[in-house]
Amino acid sequence: MAEERGHWGSRLGFILAAAGSAVGLGNLWKFPYLAWENDGGVFVLSYLAAVALFGLPIMIAEFMVGRRAQANPVVAFRKLGNRAWSGVGWLGVAAAAVILSYYTVIAGWSLKSFVQCLGWSFAGYDDGAPAEFGGFLSNGPLQILLTLLFSGLTAFIVYRGVGSGIERGNKIMMPALALILLYILVTALTLPAAGEGLAHLFVPRFSTWKPAMILDGLGQAFFSLSLGLGAMIAYGSYLKKDVSLPRAALSVTLLDTGVALVAGIIMFSIIHSIPGMKDQVSASSIGMLFVTLPKLFYTQMPGGALLGPLFFVLVAFAALTSTISLLEVLVSLLVDRQGMTRPRATLLSAGAVFAGSCLSALSLGAVSWLSSFSVFSGKPGVLSTLDHLAANWMLPLGGLFTTIFVGWFLKKDAARDELAGGRGWLFTLWLWLIRVVCPLGILALLLAIVMGKDFS
Ligand code: TRP
Repeated sequence: MAEERGHWGSRLGFILAAAGSAVGLGNLWKFPYLAWENDGGVFVLSYLAAVALFGLPIMIAEFMVGRRAQANPVVAFRKLGNRAWSGVGWLGVAAAAVILSYYTVIAGWSLKSFVQCLGWSFAGYDDGAPAEFGGFLSNGPLQILLTLLFSGLTAFIVYRGVGSGIERGNKIMMPALALILLYILVTALTLPAAGEGLAHLFVPRFSTWKPAMILDGLGQAFFSLSLGLGAMIAYGSYLKKDVSLPRAALSVTLLDTGVALVAGIIMFSIIHSIPGMKDQVSASSIGMLFVTLPKLFYTQMPGGALLGPLFFVLVAFAALTSTISLLEVLVSLLVDRQGMTRPRATLLSAGAVFAGSCLSALSLGAVSWLSSFSVFSGKPGVLSTLDHLAANWMLPLGGLFTTIFVGWFLKKDAARDELAGGRGWLFTLWLWLIRVVCPLGILALLLAIVMGKDFS
């Protein structure tokens, strides 16, 4: 990759690719489920605040580092900084491996939901089935099989080179997902208790807030926007000079946040409106996406039997565009730094990550010590622990170092140059956010958690 660096064909192509990395299970699976576990309101508010105050400026900063260095994150930090700074790149590589290892497990569930929906569409909906989600989670062999399938799919595409297929696929599948999501939104909003759902999601109840909820919001902002591990640095490194970084970052951020909010509204409306849903979801909120929607498709929605299977194909696709970008971080490093061939690098990294995935796949009830393994309070099991470790700690730390680097070590002229002259109040505002607000805000929150009793 270092010899012949490609470039994005167009501004739109770049924005769609970055949005494709950002929009994934983070929006459809994780945001609604975290919002439910954190009782809506305060979490959603801190998520939105984190997106605006930290997410947007840091995305601009990551694009900037990438375009300036024209290199992958590890090399970029060394090129623009020094050897020690490349440690931030390595932290990112570790985070990518950790996230990929459990992300594939959840992504595998979309394959199962697809097959299940196909069955319902042809043989009729079986109302008892959603309650069996707990049984599905603790079915170890099935979890491993689905994870293996999804890992294989990811490795196959990365092995062949990301190429035009996935980009073209992106351009069709993402708009299709958006359209179906909007149709589901309209259906969900006509449910009897949609108002209650909206209130639950958006009205903050400050009496219940804890620093941990705010950290969840911050971590989710990083996770959902693909920030903190250098993915956007890598994407920025293929950018030409004529693209406005702030505008591109704003588009990606708005798209990503929009999808997350729509998914949240849909699921909260369903949970409040369909009898029995609350108990099912509370029993395993981690499976919310896969439990709530089939019920809507098959009991409330005109054309739902057609859209159900299609929807989960699109979920799998959204997840695939994200797993590809994560595996690519590992593969490009082995190719660029170790001089490994692409096939070898793909096999080696995908194989190693899959071995790690098995721990997560078996931690949902199949193997009891993996399921009860706990570091963070309220997050039992390997999968939840890794998710929490990566999203709430590794990504914010990566983001913290990135802001310090861009704000205080990168030459100001470089920043000005990347931001088209860099005059005016918007540049000043961005610079203050990056130099002061972001680093102090992230640091203060992490310290509050470490020093407080509320270590989670
Ligand atoms: N943002 C993706 C999602 O919401 C996940 C993801 C892909 C990611 N690449 C990343 C998260 C890089 C952090 C860093 O599903």
